[in-house]
Amino acid sequence: MPSLNDIRSTYLGYFEKNGHRVVDSSPLVPRNDPTLMFANSGMVQFKNCFTGVETRDYKRATTAQKCVRAGGKHNDLDNVGYTARHHTFFEMLGNFSFGDYFKTEAIPFAWNLLTQEFGIPKDKLLVTVYHTDDEAANIWKKVAGLSDDRIIRIPTNDNFWMMGPTGPCGPCTEIFYDHGDKIWGGPPGSAEEDGDRFIEIWNLVFMQYEQFEDGTKRDLDMQSIDTGMGLERIGALLQGKHDNYDTDLMRSLIEASAHATSNDPDGPGKVHHRVIADHLRSTSFLIADGVTPSNEGRGYVLRRIMRRAMRHAHMLGAKDPVMFKLVSELVRQMGGAYPELGRAQSLIEETLKLEETRFKQTLDRGLKLLDDELADLPEGAPLPGAAAFKLYDTYGFPLDLTQDALREKGREVETQGFDAAMAEQKAKARAAWSGSGEASDAKIWFELAETHGATEFLGYDTETAEAQVLALVKDGAEVAKAGDTVQIVVNQTPFYGESGGQVGDTGTIQTETGMAQITDTKKVAGVFIHIATVTMGEIAKGQAAKLVVDHARRSAIRANHSATHLLHEALRRALGDHVAQKGSLNAEDRLRFDFSHSKGLSPEELAQVELEVNEFIRQNTAVDTRIMTPDDARGLGAQALFGEKYGDEVRVVSMGRLEGSGKGADRATYSLELCGGTHVARTGDIGAFVLLGDSASSAGVRRIEALTGTGALAYLNGQAQRLAEVAGLLKTAVPEAVERVRALVEERKALANEVAQLRRELAMGGAGGTAAEAKEINGVKFMAQVVSGVSGKDLPALVDELKSRIGSGAVLVVADTGGKAAVAAGVTADLTARISAVALVKAAAEALGGKGGGGRPDMAQAGGADASKSAEAIAAAEAVLMEGVPA
Ligand code: ALA
Repeated sequence: MPSLNDIRSTYLGYFEKNGHRVVDSSPLVPRNDPTLMFANSGMVQFKNCFTGVETRDYKRATTAQKCVRAGGKHNDLDNVGYTARHHTFFEMLGNFSFGDYFKTEAIPFAWNLLTQEFGIPKDKLLVTVYHTDDEAANIWKKVAGLSDDRIIRIPTNDNFWMMGPTGPCGPCTEIFYDHGDKIWGGPPGSAEEDGDRFIEIWNLVFMQYEQFEDGTKRDLDMQSIDTGMGLERIGALLQGKHDNYDTDLMRSLIEASAHATSNDPDGPGKVHHRVIADHLRSTSFLIADGVTPSNEGRGYVLRRIMRRAMRHAHMLGAKDPVMFKLVSELVRQMGGAYPELGRAQSLIEETLKLEETRFKQTLDRGLKLLDDELADLPEGAPLPGAAAFKLYDTYGFPLDLTQDALREKGREVETQGFDAAMAEQKAKARAAWSGSGEASDAKIWFELAETHGATEFLGYDTETAEAQVLALVKDGAEVAKAGDTVQIVVNQTPFYGESGGQVGDTGTIQTETGMAQITDTKKVAGVFIHIATVTMGEIAKGQAAKLVVDHARRSAIRANHSATHLLHEALRRALGDHVAQKGSLNAEDRLRFDFSHSKGLSPEELAQVELEVNEFIRQNTAVDTRIMTPDDARGLGAQALFGEKYGDEVRVVSMGRLEGSGKGADRATYSLELCGGTHVARTGDIGAFVLLGDSASSAGVRRIEALTGTGALAYLNGQAQRLAEVAGLLKTAVPEAVERVRALVEERKALANEVAQLRRELAMGGAGGTAAEAKEINGVKFMAQVVSGVSGKDLPALVDELKSRIGSGAVLVVADTGGKAAVAAGVTADLTARISAVALVKAAAEALGGKGGGGRPDMAQAGGADASKSAEAIAAAEAVLMEGVPA
């Protein structure tokens, strides 16, 4: 009996043999579609190949595509567990032609696979075609030899396939399997078609049109093929089962559930095991593709599925979390075909366990409340909306969980009342924010958040995505034209909105009619605001748009942000645990990190920190992201911002591995931080880290600036270039440049001394030249000299020179400094008790038109306005000696 894994391989191998490229499943979160919540069929990733917008290097492809149908146009959530063939997660096998083959080949491909490779008896098969499609009917007749009554014409949309409200579409032909008259049901199109006798197994779509939002269609330029066959269905058939949940893969998960809850897999809890098995698959695959539980958008769908499964586990009597224990069995079954599942195993387990643990706290009380409410109601009456809302609001019961719980009791929820209670709560929230002054600035964003919900951020996993333009904020306009600067809000975006020190992304947004440059992205009330300038055509509200983040810039920002985490840890290890983040900037061209520390870092400390960061960059370990409660994160030792408010769940980013020195695998994470930013995949992507230095930011806070990647390299290159230039000027090689500069500095010092000496000598009339005559006044020898070509600061040396020439006495030097004057007086040590150089210089300065003067009794200096008065200055000094020197 072939396993589901065998069947998947046979399918892909068959089409590969027939010239198809085997393409990996795309992620569950569509990158290329603005309207879809999840990939719901194999053609989603090829949507643009059908419309001709995109071409690839192959025209035939085959895939096993992960699909989730739990929201939007295709939603199976409510039925899962209760029916044989509904799933929230399933695999769709498909073959595709992009303008290559069409009906005449697609039909025989399918027929031969089913009847030859899979060996299904021909008389068990019948088909439907769209009522006007004679061509397909004729091909069936020819290829399969089916009689007319086994080619059923269907006039409804059952045989016209559409991915969603817009996009490529076309008529289809479906292949059915007849389980025989022991099972009730009629052929498709008959009154009994909903019975289980005739089961659709494969849908072949003839892609010929593109559907637009206004309901119009255009003919596509090329005719293409899209097919879809649920692996679980064909698996059940080939394994001789009637129920998808009896296939080997689903059965193994059901048994794992039974084992974990110590229950009989086929006993009264059968439905619960089926729900758990299905929901385990959708939740695990969603988490592996980057979705995390939240209260909005995709995250809320995930949460709803998780909680629905948890209630069923609860019904099985499970006291402790169960779901996370089943992940290993799922990885065992499906990890071979989908390696992302194994890679994300611990993330999936932790996310499930966290959600289960938290939901358990309110589940019991919520169920009790539900029972109490029901007890008070008349038999069969619906649950009032207000009660359902209370369960939602207080106990975290998504509406469909309550509905699921009531279904078993044959009751419903009065949904109008629920909606009214929800609307009332929103109105209260609005009153709260519109009343607070701070929020009124941001009123417009709160309103948008309320109307459309928070913007879904896809940028952890992708840099390009398609989205819908929800609002253009510019004077209430609905259209922005070339030259306009607008703020654009979309339903989902790969652009990071500035927060947590990381700058906003830039890039482009393009619609069918125009293009704009996004120059910055901000985030208010969960709404991402793309600040954009329209460069071409126009952009209108309601359009589908392609958003592309500037990859090089984002990569540089990522490198800087990850390096900041490594820097933080390196600083803590070098300086102590008191180091706490006080602020940071992660921009494209640099990083800045402010932290508590009271004194400057020594060159050794800086070098050590830089070295350590670079060591962990070279270690090149994967950067890991997980979601947990703030308490758990702190328990693990995650660095959090003190005083910062965190939600119920936080994102924890870890990087770097510490190898223990002890025996065995004594390993621990190097850096662990709460962070919502975007990071490199591996530390090696940072490239290099160069610390530019540290400075004081404010009292007790230091600031480090640093560079990474190409920025660091450019900086080092610049330094090297300057050094080479220096060496060139010194006419030496770089390694010798330092010695050469040292020698030059020494030489310069010696030369400066020599020059000063020569100047003095020159000023004094040359070496051994004509010195001034000394005269005797009041018994004191006095020598005065007028000099030029020297400055004020040379005068003390000249005064000393004169003092040494006269041996004992007073001296005065007047310098002509280009019209202005400088003057200095000196008194030899033996006379300072009687005569003060200060008095002499003051008198001389006054004569020179200056004021003041200062110094010590043996040496004083002053300036003057008029050097031509030097004779008067000398006379004034002489007068002081004449009058002022006591005998
Ligand atoms: N896209 C088609 C489907 O999902 C094949 O049924």
